[in-house]
Amino acid sequence: MIPKSVWKDNKLYQPETLTSIFREKSEDLGVLQQVIDFDGKQSKGAIGGQDESETIRHFIERFFASAARVQFVVIDPHKTLNDISNDIKASFGSGNISVLDIPCGTGASILSLLCNIREMRVHKLLPCLPVHISITAGDYSETALEIYADFIIKIKPYLEEVNIFIDCNTHMWNAKNVSSTDEIMNIFLEKKESEEYYIFMSAFSGEVANNINDYEDSISYIQARVSNLNSCILHIEPESNNAEKFYKLLLKLIKKFICYIVLEEKSDKGFLWIHPLNNKEIKGGYYIKLFKRYG
Ligand SMILES: C[S@@+](CC[C@H](N)C(=O)[O-])C[C@H]1O[C@@H](n2cnc3c(N)ncnc32)[C@H](O)[C@@H]1O
Repeated sequence: MIPKSVWKDNKLYQPETLTSIFREKSEDLGVLQQVIDFDGKQSKGAIGGQDESETIRHFIERFFASAARVQFVVIDPHKTLNDISNDIKASFGSGNISVLDIPCGTGASILSLLCNIREMRVHKLLPCLPVHISITAGDYSETALEIYADFIIKIKPYLEEVNIFIDCNTHMWNAKNVSSTDEIMNIFLEKKESEEYYIFMSAFSGEVANNINDYEDSISYIQARVSNLNSCILHIEPESNNAEKFYKLLLKLIKKFICYIVLEEKSDKGFLWIHPLNNKEIKGGYYIKLFKRYG
């Protein structure tokens, strides 16, 4: 039930569509060789940042780590994430959905989600019903937003082949600032035709866990703004102490809104993925929380 193109011998392989747009962008940025040469064992792991250099470093070192983590959740090769994985596939299965991708970085997570759903549609493992996805993406790195916007233009035609139609707006957003958060929420919620408002926050715990007080107000505000809508908030983080701290905060804040159920999964043994540009075998892990509004 899983395409061999992305899962073979108990290892994840990246979709060719994602690999090819990433390779092209790496060449444009003049960093392809650095991506190929990067040795994960010698790095603590970049988390990105506002500057161009921090953003490019994260792009070189961590793009496919984020992508592989989301890929594991979407394709769920061991069938251990049934409820969460099926819920994601149902939300992105048909109709109109509005997605808020924050902080979006250079797009590894959302591109992985979309490219892996595409892969399953191509192999007739998911229905090819039309789905219109309106993406609002925010980050405080201008460089990340530029790369993200370019990726979206490049991936669009591949997605349209299987009836996935996307439009996207990128916005400067500072998560420490509630009025900046208010602006991006207004843009996201403007899409009145949406059947579901889907907030996707991936790989943010490394930043938030070390500065909890700076983020509390914005996160609480985001939760409040969607608490009366058909909505969900999906968090996919690496398994780490930072994720534990981040989730502790999220759970404390979401308690104000009684209308959410919380699904969660954590990898115990982790998974293996193959880097598509240097064929290295790398270990990954995940810690997921899906806040789903009911009623
Ligand atoms: C580890 S990356 C994750 C990006 C993306 N979600 C992914 O999975 O690849 C973290 C991102 O958070 C952004 N970021 C950090 N602090 C931020 C803040 N205060 N406001 C907005 N974005 C921020 C960084 O620019 C970076 O792009």
